Amino acid sequence: MRIVFIGPPGSGKGTQCRRLSKHLGVPHLSTGEMLRWKRDNTHDGPMVAGFIDGGNLAPDQFVMSMVSCRISESDCRSGYLLDGFPRTVVQAELFDTHLDQRNGQLDHVFQLVASDDELIRRMIRRSELEGRVDDTPETIANRLSVYQARTRPVIDYYADRGLIRPIDAMQSAETVFANLLAMIETNE
Ligand code: AP5
Repeated sequence: MRIVFIGPPGSGKGTQCRRLSKHLGVPHLSTGEMLRWKRDNTHDGPMVAGFIDGGNLAPDQFVMSMVSCRISESDCRSGYLLDGFPRTVVQAELFDTHLDQRNGQLDHVFQLVASDDELIRRMIRRSELEGRVDDTPETIANRLSVYQARTRPVIDYYADRGLIRPIDAMQSAETVFANLLAMIETNE
């Protein structure tokens, strides 16, 4: 089971992937989490911080090699949930090449849909609770605009391949999860 989650910041990609990972027993791979780990623990830290702390995307090749290393690990053999990758058309193309070379394919690409007002409300609230450095009003605005400019085209990329499944992410996390499961189980 290989599933991609695309959605703007705050749309609930991480929340849904954590639940689904437990339910399906496949790992949840968040490129945001991987990059924050690299920022805080490796010599690439300052370079990574220069991109992600301001809400800008890390370089495509850097992210692709991070993802291809991770999905080559044994726990990904029966599948994985990708949270926040691919985030550019170049990443989607690189990932397709990677899958082709391994005779793999994606089962689902879910697009979480929510209004900017709701996304901003959620991220400001999280900033108060968790203090994520990119949850400031200025950085949130940049993340939303980077999403429109760089990630929206990825939705068209997968739509052209008949893979995109939009989900209303304005509902409660429980309802979103129930809808996701129904779509996976009925393969709608
Ligand atoms: P990343 O960590 O992926 O952040 P993001 O995409 O901005 O997404 P968030 O984590 O803010 O939100 P989410 O959609 O996961 O929602 P969540 O479940 O947390 O990336 C961080 C940065 O890393 C990027 O800005 C970029 O710089 C870099 N990066 C990452 N991937 C990259 C890539 N592929 N290429 C290049 N650079 C990359 O929910 C948000 C909040 O809302 C939570 O508090 C949650 O409790 C709440 N919530 C969730 N669902 C609901 C609901 N249904 N109702 C009410 N509240 C809800």
